[in-house]
Amino acid sequence: MLAIDLRGKVIVVTGGGTGLGRAMTETFIQCGAQVAICGRRTHVVEEAAQALGPAVRPYTCDVRSWESVDAFLSQVVKDFGRLDAVVNNAAGNFLAASERLSPKGFRAVVDIVLLGTFHVSRWAGAYWIENKLPGHILNIVTTYTETGCAFVLPSAAAKAGVQALTLSLAYEWAPYGIRANAIAPGPFPTEGAWSRLMPNGDFEKEYKKRLPTGRYGNPAELGALAAFLLSDLAPYITGAVIPIDGAERLQGAMFNYLAQVADRETLKEVFERLRQVQGEKG
Ligand code: HXC
Ligand code: NAP
Repeated sequence: MLAIDLRGKVIVVTGGGTGLGRAMTETFIQCGAQVAICGRRTHVVEEAAQALGPAVRPYTCDVRSWESVDAFLSQVVKDFGRLDAVVNNAAGNFLAASERLSPKGFRAVVDIVLLGTFHVSRWAGAYWIENKLPGHILNIVTTYTETGCAFVLPSAAAKAGVQALTLSLAYEWAPYGIRANAIAPGPFPTEGAWSRLMPNGDFEKEYKKRLPTGRYGNPAELGALAAFLLSDLAPYITGAVIPIDGAERLQGAMFNYLAQVADRETLKEVFERLRQVQGEKG
């Protein structure tokens, strides 16, 4: 039986005290890893570590600050004696009309997402290169890095930057044995995301109609993908951006709307009628 084995590995998860970061942490420890989680709110990471057990240690760190990241990762290496992977999961986001967005509001998100990811990746990469060790940077982006996205301008711009950072480092640091990949999740209704991005039940009802699989993602599914990428089963996967969204991102393709306006039996009848009309025309 082939299984994902992370025994002996030490993994850092930024924003690991809540939502998807916490879910990935849970999967990593199920696969045998030890995990260092961080966030700005000490009580949140402490409560998560308490609930998840002794393989998880909590740290207070603000990824926007280089000094804070330096202190955090130095302490992780001291505490665990090694560092195998960093997961840049910490993020900020909110809905806003871009013409009303203040420069501070734009910066609040970009500093967490893009600058924070740079800080953690820069520290870990230098550490691995200096010590001649392999390593892995796994960045959590979104499915709108290619398309942009209305009403979440700072997040769209910052996540596109993180995607470019991922691809840049994958090539630049490949000769050192450092991999860099990104996961692009679709909708996973966490408290952090949904409280900021889903206005109310009516909006959600409309949104759910657009999901081709008819459901949201389950955080454990994301955890399994992340664990696989960090494991020794995936040594040749680097420079990849992998969506996990039940095909949600594809709804804009020209004829995909048909699936939303009629049921399949009706569509088949419509297509058949169209075919007959074409046949009659010769
Ligand atoms: C407009 C806003 C705003 C809002 C804050 N600001 N919230 N502007 N609409 N909803 C503006 C403020 O007015 C202020 O500017 C500036 O941003 C800084 O605000 P602070 O509250 O001081 O910022 P800070 O404490 O640094 O908090 C950062 C944050 C916050 C991003 C605003 O929401 C946060 O801490 N988020 C962390 C968790 C999170 O966002 N999780 C969701 C990730 S989900 P002025 O000019 O007024 O001073 C995700 C999913 C993507 O990324 C894809 C989904 C499918
Ligand atoms: P979340 O629970 O709000 O997670 C964000 C985490 O980041 C929190 O634990 C937060 O903790 C931490 N954080 C924020 N600013 C930080 C900072 N400056 N320094 C350190 N930590 C910081 O939201 P989530 O839904 O799980 O999102 C996790 C990741 O998935 C994000 O990268 C998000 O963009 C991505 N994503 C989510 C979805 C979705 O549908 N949920 C879809 C696509 C992508 P503190 O506030 O305590 O610092």
